[in-house]
Amino acid sequence: MSPTSNLENTNSGSESAAEVNWDELGFSVVTTDYMYVMKCAKGDKFSQGSLLPYGNIEISPSAGILNYGQGIFEGLKAQRTEDGRILLFRPDENGLRMKSGADRMCMPSPSVEQFVNAVKQTVLANKRWVPPPGKGSLYIRPLLIGTGPLLGLAPAPEYTFLIYCSPVGSYHKGPLNLKVEDKLYRAISGNGGTGGIKSITNYAPVYTATTDAKANGFSDVLFLDSATGKYIEEASSSNLFVVKDNTISTPAIDGTILPGITRKSIIEYAIDLGYQVMERSISVEEMLAADEMFCTGTAVVLSSVASVTYKETRTNYKTGPETLSAKLRQTLVGVQTGCLEDKKSWTVIV
Ligand code: COI
Repeated sequence: MSPTSNLENTNSGSESAAEVNWDELGFSVVTTDYMYVMKCAKGDKFSQGSLLPYGNIEISPSAGILNYGQGIFEGLKAQRTEDGRILLFRPDENGLRMKSGADRMCMPSPSVEQFVNAVKQTVLANKRWVPPPGKGSLYIRPLLIGTGPLLGLAPAPEYTFLIYCSPVGSYHKGPLNLKVEDKLYRAISGNGGTGGIKSITNYAPVYTATTDAKANGFSDVLFLDSATGKYIEEASSSNLFVVKDNTISTPAIDGTILPGITRKSIIEYAIDLGYQVMERSISVEEMLAADEMFCTGTAVVLSSVASVTYKETRTNYKTGPETLSAKLRQTLVGVQTGCLEDKKSWTVIV
């Protein structure tokens, strides 16, 4: 694979329409034209990356990521607006989160500026894959992985920062039916663990629970805190919110909860709309007594929860256009797609 010239020099990717049925997009891999790759030796700083044709990467069997899971990832989206712009939503926040995850996992990381610049280059190179307005988004997946070889347990001698992307539609179809998992945990509770970073190692451990839940008709699993099993933490791929009498509560960022960028944005939008928002511990009993519930994340956006099943008992929640979830989703998506004024200057034009 040979590097293409930087898009900073060539300016844009191919203009020919991508062969995608935009009406049938789900959340699965649709390969695009280019990926961005930047490498860095242990102890050095990332300096110069390049765009390469999208394809397989060569990796040593003894790479740090394959043997010891030294890796983190990010997720963000590019959206096409009605007037033809392509917008990112708070990409600097993803760059910052990658930096803090990299520190925890003992890896060098690109600077926030390098991160955002690389994201923009990747989107520009693949712009024909950004869905038309209203048809979905281009999901961008930055990876930071230890690719250098080693056998003993130690930080890898070389790192790769790679970004690929894929056009996507909805992650979930309709309101969610969640099952509370009370035997397996997503991450150890409290500070000192890795629940609060996007470590690759946090994700596969949810599969046992999600596979079982999905086989039984649930949309996703809701995990509890591993210390007491009494408090709600996250769903497998999103943060949780409960609403009771116009007060919105969400588990506090305590080292276990992923500091979601959608989570953080929804908190601000809700406060601006006049709601009280509390970041604190939420017991299972309190959740079951809530009026409304929803999940947030880059992939899931904001999905309302129709029901939660805890120890075989199902509790239903309010859903539909009159809910607070619907109002908040409208605000978020409106700004992300350029349909509503971005009063906070969170969107970035590619
Ligand atoms: C995202 O929302 O971007 C995530 O990283 C969750 C992933 C498991 C799809």
